[in-house]
Amino acid sequence: MKLILLGAPGAGKGTQAVRIAEKYNVPHISTGDIFRKNIKEQTPIGVVAKSYIDKGQLVPDEVTCKIVEDRISRADCQNGYMLDGFPRTIAQAEALDKITNVDLVINIDVDFSLLLDRICGRRVCKDCGETYHLKRLNGETKCARCGGDLYQRKDDNPETVQSRLDVYNAQTAPLIAYYTEKGLIFNVHSDERPPEVTFEKIAQKLDTLLK
Ligand code: AP5
Repeated sequence: MKLILLGAPGAGKGTQAVRIAEKYNVPHISTGDIFRKNIKEQTPIGVVAKSYIDKGQLVPDEVTCKIVEDRISRADCQNGYMLDGFPRTIAQAEALDKITNVDLVINIDVDFSLLLDRICGRRVCKDCGETYHLKRLNGETKCARCGGDLYQRKDDNPETVQSRLDVYNAQTAPLIAYYTEKGLIFNVHSDERPPEVTFEKIAQKLDTLLK
């Protein structure tokens, strides 16, 4: 099963990806996570990525496409994978089309008025990547799944978020039409209800796909 998770910053791609990976046993490939790991390790890719991510801009397509192509050629991706945050431009989607066919594009659609609060209140587990919102943590600083420390991402501040949303509207939102035309889109609406509600709808679709 080859999946793409599409959605604005804060839509809940990472939140759903952790659940999908666990239930369906597919590798979760998040370009954002790959860049953050490279930044932490101060690799040449990390140095380039940081200069864009800190401003809320996209890392250039050449860099991003090469990373994804390398990652999905590994042995654990032979039976499928889930791309979270890739593609994000039409050029990236076209590059992906040249190397593989995906089965489904899950587009998480969310009211933009919810996004700023979701992103600025987000805390992420440094070990397993699970995401939480401050409102539901009740002061807890450790991950409920694995006990890892929770942290706040550097790009989760109001100024950078605005830039990320502008970039999404200009460069990523056109992918909805791109994949709709190919008959691959599954739209799922996420609202104030807990992530499990969204996951249930996604799981129903994936179960049908696997039958
Ligand atoms: P990336 O890490 O991919 O960030 P993003 O797309 O901006 O998405 P987020 O991770 O912010 O949000 P999400 O949709 O995963 O939401 P989450 O589940 O955490 O990319 C970071 C940067 O890397 C980019 O800005 C770019 O510079 C670069 N980059 C990455 N990929 C690239 C590419 N392909 N090309 C070029 N550059 C690239 O949820 C958010 C919050 O909401 C959490 O607190 C969560 O607990 C909460 N929440 C989730 N669901 C619900 C719900 N149903 N109800 C209430 N709260 C919820």
